[in-house]
Amino acid sequence: MRNPSGMPLIALVLLAGMAMAQEPKPQSQQPAPEQPPPEPAFVIPPEEAKRENPVKPDEVSLAQGRRLYETQCALCHGVDGSGKTELATTMQLTLRDYSDPKALKDFTDGELFYILRKGKGKMPGQEGRMRDRQMWHLINYIRSLAKKTDNN
Ligand code: HEC
Repeated sequence: MRNPSGMPLIALVLLAGMAMAQEPKPQSQQPAPEQPPPEPAFVIPPEEAKRENPVKPDEVSLAQGRRLYETQCALCHGVDGSGKTELATTMQLTLRDYSDPKALKDFTDGELFYILRKGKGKMPGQEGRMRDRQMWHLINYIRSLAKKTDNN
């Protein structure tokens, strides 16, 4: 066999070994540049997202939801759900406008229930303060705040 570079074979083997040793850079030293999370990522477990709302949004549920909402939630989210409240301004909250039908359409009930239970950012979690059933009433109620448009 001919050695085209003319280098002693031992040198080639050593060079190859060095190249291989340099190859795998430890991942931990190179954080992906597109995701430097300022706060820990908020992840809703898939089984929670799939959780079905066991409470039908009937009149009784909506009345219960409304009572709870107006006493516990409207302070931040607004009686009409628009999120335009003094407290939201003072606390610099970024709130969705629940009167807009688009606001919650990409959330499943399970996702809303999870956020309501556990809290998220400045949204205080209600677990331990409320029964599950009350939280489902609240979800039914906030969905009912969406203004009817020609499309729905
Ligand atoms: C202290 C102000 C505050 C109160 C009180 C509050 N929320 Fe929130 N809520 C927030 C903020 C801020 C967010 C957005 C959280 C985020 O995405 O970082 C939020 C998010 C949510 C979400 C997730 C969907 C969305 O709008 O992003 C639901 C559902 C929700 N709130 C329901 C409620 C209900 C029901 C109550 C009453 C039990 C309540 N909140 C009370 C501030 C509040």
